[in-house]
Amino acid sequence: MMPASNQTSAYDIAALERQGRTIGLGRIIHYHDTIDSTNAAALALAQQGAPHGTMVLADAQLAGRGRRGRTWYSPPGHHIYCSLILHLDAGLRSFLTFVPLASALATAEAIEEVSGVACRLKWPNDVLIGEKKVAGILCENVGKPADPVIIVGIGINVNGRPQEFPIELRKTAGTLMDETGSSIDRSLLVAALLNRLATWLRQWSLQGRSPLLTAYRRRCATVGRPVRAILDRADPIEGIAEAIGADGSLQVRRRKPGSSRSDLIEVHSADIIHLERVTGIESME
Ligand code: BTN
Repeated sequence: MMPASNQTSAYDIAALERQGRTIGLGRIIHYHDTIDSTNAAALALAQQGAPHGTMVLADAQLAGRGRRGRTWYSPPGHHIYCSLILHLDAGLRSFLTFVPLASALATAEAIEEVSGVACRLKWPNDVLIGEKKVAGILCENVGKPADPVIIVGIGINVNGRPQEFPIELRKTAGTLMDETGSSIDRSLLVAALLNRLATWLRQWSLQGRSPLLTAYRRRCATVGRPVRAILDRADPIEGIAEAIGADGSLQVRRRKPGSSRSDLIEVHSADIIHLERVTGIESME
C-alpha cells in the first residue's frame, strides 16, 4: 500500500487533508494515479485498522466496482473515484441503510454547489441530472455487527463526454461537463462532497434520521413514477413508487392483477438488483 499523499495529482491533497482535520472526513488521504479499485484499497486499509475518515482517491481505476458486480468506467484525467472509511458511532449503527442515502444526498448537494446544476436522486443512491446518471455510490460493510465499518465508494462523472463512455452506457450516463458546458475543478468538488457528508453524518448523529429523510425525500425523483424493481431473490415488482419509508425503503403500490385493489410493497435497497422506469402503468390516484 502506498503511503498517504506521496504522489502528485490533479487534486490539492494538502488542502483536502487540512479540511479533513477540521471536519473529520479526508483527514488522511491515500492518493493513487492508478489503482484497481479505491473501494478494494479502502477495504484493505480498514482491515489494517485505518481510522474513521481515511480516504482513498484515484485518478484512474483498472477494476472500478459498481453495484451488483458491475464494473465502473474509470478512465484517467476526468472523473472522481474515491472511497471513505466510516466507523459509525453507536447511534447510527442501527440504521446502516441510511449511509448510502446520506452519501447520495451529500453527493447531489456537492455537485449542485460546485456546478450550479440541479441534481435529483434515483432511489436508492444514483445521482441524476435530468434523466442522466452522473454519480453512483457503492457501500460495503467490512466490520462486525457490533462494530460496523462502512466503505463508501463514490464515482462522479465530471469532465469527460458521455460519447467517450462504453456504448452500453452512453444513453444513461451523463457528465457534469456535458450538462454545464464547462470543466469542473475536481478538488473543489471532492472538498464540497466531504463537507456535505460530514455535515449529514453529524446532523444524523445529533438530531436523528428525520432531517436526513426529509432532505432525501425532497430530492428523490423516483417517487410518483411507474417502476419495475428487479429483485435478487424474488419476482420483479411493478407498480407506482409511492413513498420512501421511515427505514429508507421504497414503497411501491402494486395493482392486484384482475382486481381494482392494490397492495403496498416495501422494497429494500439490499434486495434490489435494478430499478427501472416503466411505461404503461397508470397512476392509481
Ligand atoms: C454504481 O454501480 O452505481 C456504484 C458505482 C460506484 C463506483 C465508485 S468509483 C470509486 C469507488 N471505487 C470502486 O471500485 N467503486 C466506487
